[in-house]
Amino acid sequence: MEKYIDAAVEQFRALITEQLARQNRMEKENYKKDFAACDKIVIGVCGGDGIGPFITGQAQRVLEFLLKDEIESGRVEMRVIDGLTIENRLACGKAIPDNVLSKLKECDVILKGPTTTPKGGTMESANVAMRRELDLYANVRPVSVPELGIDWVFYRENTEGEYVLGSRGVEIPEKLAMDFKVTTDAGTKRIARAAFEYAKNNGKTSVAIVTKANIMKKTDGKFSKLCHEVAQDYPEIAADDWYIDIMTANLINENNRSKFQVFVLPNLYGDIITDEAAQIQGGVGTAGSANIGDRYAMFEAIHGSAPRMVERGDGAYANPSSMLKAAEMLLRHIAMPDRAERLAAAMRICTETEKKITVTGRSTGASCAEFADYVMDTLTKLR
Ligand code: IPM
Ligand code: MG
Repeated sequence: MEKYIDAAVEQFRALITEQLARQNRMEKENYKKDFAACDKIVIGVCGGDGIGPFITGQAQRVLEFLLKDEIESGRVEMRVIDGLTIENRLACGKAIPDNVLSKLKECDVILKGPTTTPKGGTMESANVAMRRELDLYANVRPVSVPELGIDWVFYRENTEGEYVLGSRGVEIPEKLAMDFKVTTDAGTKRIARAAFEYAKNNGKTSVAIVTKANIMKKTDGKFSKLCHEVAQDYPEIAADDWYIDIMTANLINENNRSKFQVFVLPNLYGDIITDEAAQIQGGVGTAGSANIGDRYAMFEAIHGSAPRMVERGDGAYANPSSMLKAAEMLLRHIAMPDRAERLAAAMRICTETEKKITVTGRSTGASCAEFADYVMDTLTKLR
């Protein structure tokens, strides 16, 4: 037993040292990319696993359609990056193969299909690795259901909390297992700032700070306290404290859910509650997700790779709406709000008002390519 304890103590020391170094690096960071001032923007495209290549390929087509002029003039380059597949990851034993990572770092923004994460073992999720490697600290997930008065934006902390050491816990076989949750000052302040800045710039009047600080006293306690500190710089915006359990209930409470506007929350709670929120909007297939850092950004679906759909032979019938929402956020991020608005308008027509065809996830419905054609037809008519 002693040898396990000694090894765990050694590991814990190394983890603290490493995480402290990360916090200190973040504290010094002061670069922020300005896309409006960029001569050239490289959009990397990674298909991912399962239904990923199907839905990502269609979102890429729609982006190429919307950015035709910029691609022709060379201001925008779409660059397909192969190799971010579960087969490659398992073969090289890395969450992101080295050659893929270096190609990703040569892009400005990335459109990424869902990737498969093996359960258990030590192989880290490609998503989690990418968020860390590119320091994509703000996971922004909008959910809107206009007819129910729902217009929510979640700011999920994306690089620490329960995830940062999630593959590096401690285990004493057949006795116990421990994972670590890490909350840093710099990591919390930057996500809080992102949420309050969004609220301020978009006419929102409140931000809900969602934790379980009554139980996770150190980590969530810090998160809540620092969010309130940042809130002091935004006196016009109310900062409300909530616990995650009651907030999950509130999202399905028809009497008061429409009062919520912006949420800021630690990583794991953000992961869980945004699936719930997406379900209220019509399912995880309808929701996009932006992973934003100061240098890079990555846009994806909020759902997984649905391997069962592909095994069933229905990959080509997967719903690309989530990736199209991701593409809309990508356009906004690279300072092309006019294009983003057009795509959003076309999506509203295709999925809400006109609905000429519907993707059902089965061959009885439209294929994802047919749906993308429909979106592009609609875009042409909007012109
Ligand atoms: C998400 C996903 C990921 C997460 C998985 C695939 C690692 O559920 O983006 O919400 O847990 O963050
Ligand atoms: Mg999730």
